Amino acid sequence: MNTSPSSSAALPRIAVLATGGTIAGSAADAANTAGYQAGVIGVAQLLAAVPGLDAIAQIHAEQVASVDSKDMTLALWSTLAQRVNELLASDEIDGVVITHGTDTLEETAYLLHLTVKSAKPCVLTAAMRPATALSADGPLNLLNAVTLAANAAAAGQGVLVAFNNRIHCARDVTKVSTYAVDAFQSPEIGALGWVQDGRVEFQRRALRPHTVDAPFTAAAQWPQVEIVTSYAGVSRAAVEALVAAGVDGFVVAGTGNGSIHGAMQQSLAEAAAKGVAVVRASRVGSGHVMHNGAAKDDALGFVSSGTLNPYKARVLLLLALAAGMTDKAGLQDVFDRY
Ligand code: SIN
Repeated sequence: MNTSPSSSAALPRIAVLATGGTIAGSAADAANTAGYQAGVIGVAQLLAAVPGLDAIAQIHAEQVASVDSKDMTLALWSTLAQRVNELLASDEIDGVVITHGTDTLEETAYLLHLTVKSAKPCVLTAAMRPATALSADGPLNLLNAVTLAANAAAAGQGVLVAFNNRIHCARDVTKVSTYAVDAFQSPEIGALGWVQDGRVEFQRRALRPHTVDAPFTAAAQWPQVEIVTSYAGVSRAAVEALVAAGVDGFVVAGTGNGSIHGAMQQSLAEAAAKGVAVVRASRVGSGHVMHNGAAKDDALGFVSSGTLNPYKARVLLLLALAAGMTDKAGLQDVFDRY
C-alpha cells in the first residue's frame, strides 16, 4: 500500500514523548559516537534539529523521562503506557511518537504493543549516534517516525518502530548491532514496510492480536520475572537463589530450540512444581521455540515462547502474571496467541 503525506489543510496532531537515549545524547566532540552521555538533550532541541517537521504535523511535545534506556524501569513503563493511553484517548491527538534509547527499545515497544488501547498510530524511534555526532541519525529517524505517525496507513497496525527508513512491528523487531546505524531487524519475518522522503509504504500487516485486541494493562504492581541463560557448565545456583528470593517467573534463554542444561532444567522443574512460571525461549536470535508436548514441557511444567526472544517473552510473562494468568495451559495459550 502506497500513501503520500496528507494534503489537507489541518495537519495531523502528533504528540512526541521523549524518554532519553542516544537520540538525546551529547558528546564532547562531533567525531565521538561511543563515549557520550545518553538522554541529556531535551525534546525541544530534538525537534528543532528536524527541518520541515511543521509541514508534516502539529507537534505537541512532552519530556516523559531522560534516561539511558539500559536503566528503564517497570515503573517508567507504567507511566509511559498511561500517558500514551491518555493522549491517544484525546480528540486533540491523532498519533504518538516516542523517542527512546536503542538498548531496550524492543522491550518497551512490545510492552506498549500489548497495553496501548487505541488504533491510532504509535511509533517508537531512536538513534545509534548521539545528537552531537557527525551524520547523527536521530533527526532523520524522528522525521520518519512523525511522518509515519501522521499517516492514516499506520492506524490499526499496533505499535510500530521507525528506524533507518524501515517500519518494524513492535513484536518482531530486535536490536542486532552494537554500533551500526542499521541496528534493527525483524529476524525471519522482516520489516512491515518503509518510510522515505515523506512517503510511507506498507508491504504487509502483523497478524497477531495487539493494542485494543490484547487484554493486558501496564500494572501498578509488577510481578518479579527474571531471565536466566543456559550454557555449558551452568549451575543451579542462579535459579535457586531467585526462587529463594521469591521470584514469580523465569524466562530461560535456552540453547538451540530452547533446550536447557540438565542441572538447570532440574532446578527449574522444581521451581515450576512450586508454582513459579517457567517459559523456554532461545538465545539463538531467530527461529521459534516449539512446545515439546507431554513428554517434556507438560511433564516439567514449562511453557514455550514461540517466536518471542527472551526479552520479549519476559514482557509477555510480566503482563500475563500481572493479569493473574498463572495456569500453565492458559499461559501457553497466551504465548501461542500474542
Ligand atoms: C540507550 O539505550 O539509551 C543508549 C543507547 C542508544 O540509545 O543507542
